[in-house]
Amino acid sequence: MRVIERAVELSATLDEQRSAGRTVGFVPTMGALHDGHASLIERAAVECDTVAVSIFVNPLQFVPGEDLAEYPRDLGADLVVAEKAGAAVVFAPTATEMFPDASRTTVHVAGLGDVLEGASRPGHFDGVATAVTKLLALAGRSRSYFGEKDFQQLVVVGRLVADLSLPVEVVACPTVRGSDGVALSSRNRYLSVDEREAAAVLHRALRAGAACVRAGERDPGEVVDLVSAVVEAEPLVTLDYAAVVDPATLATPRTLAGELRLVLGARVGATRLIDNVAVEVPR
Ligand code: PAJ
Repeated sequence: MRVIERAVELSATLDEQRSAGRTVGFVPTMGALHDGHASLIERAAVECDTVAVSIFVNPLQFVPGEDLAEYPRDLGADLVVAEKAGAAVVFAPTATEMFPDASRTTVHVAGLGDVLEGASRPGHFDGVATAVTKLLALAGRSRSYFGEKDFQQLVVVGRLVADLSLPVEVVACPTVRGSDGVALSSRNRYLSVDEREAAAVLHRALRAGAACVRAGERDPGEVVDLVSAVVEAEPLVTLDYAAVVDPATLATPRTLAGELRLVLGARVGATRLIDNVAVEVPR
């Protein structure tokens, strides 16, 4: 496996692969790799000839007061996970390599980046969109793998790829969960034993919400009230938002119909976690 720090070298390496007739799979990450990340890399390795993984803790997407300084970093351990999952290339740039002082461009995906997580973390999705646009530009023609765990991010990335005509096919990958239902996340390592137990309420609440839609509830307000009540019964968890949204627009429909996503953001102790599930109302 080749480890690359320079942006031009990533582009050149992947261009060479394509010139040799090989397809490229690209998996952007912030490191602290777990089985969720590994599932993306493994899928890319099944579907593409050469898999590149980026590991970059993107300072632009941390809003003031967040955990940029504490965010877990362990390149040695990450390289082991990436290689085992099938990566041939790891791109691990410094912050100045990614964003030299002369950088002035911000990518803003209007509407989609401003609601839900974006409302609670103003500027977060500009940071994500700006970094992902640059990473995808460096990777070039590829299939790029993103987790449904970060559903709003997936929608934002899909939209910027379409709007900017990037030569990238975005592949959505299902959420990998622990046996307690908690979605794997690099931030789970901040949780105490009690908090980890409490965090299981998030998926339970989403499942309860989805079950009530399947049982015939068509009023999004009622579904959100149920999800909120389940979360609020857990004293260590504070709900930030819960919503039932159209998966394309992230808007809440007046009446529930077709494909939907139940999404939520919450604090478990001091740790912010997000989760979501799909639910469909047959038309
Ligand atoms: P990070 O949180 O490291 O996640 C990298 C990718 O792994 C994202 O596409 C995310 O959705 C996916 N992922 C994380 N946990 C997952 C899980 N439990 N199951 C399935 N997929 C999971 O998301 C980011 O980094 C950054 O915002 C990034 C896109 C790299 C831009 O900086």
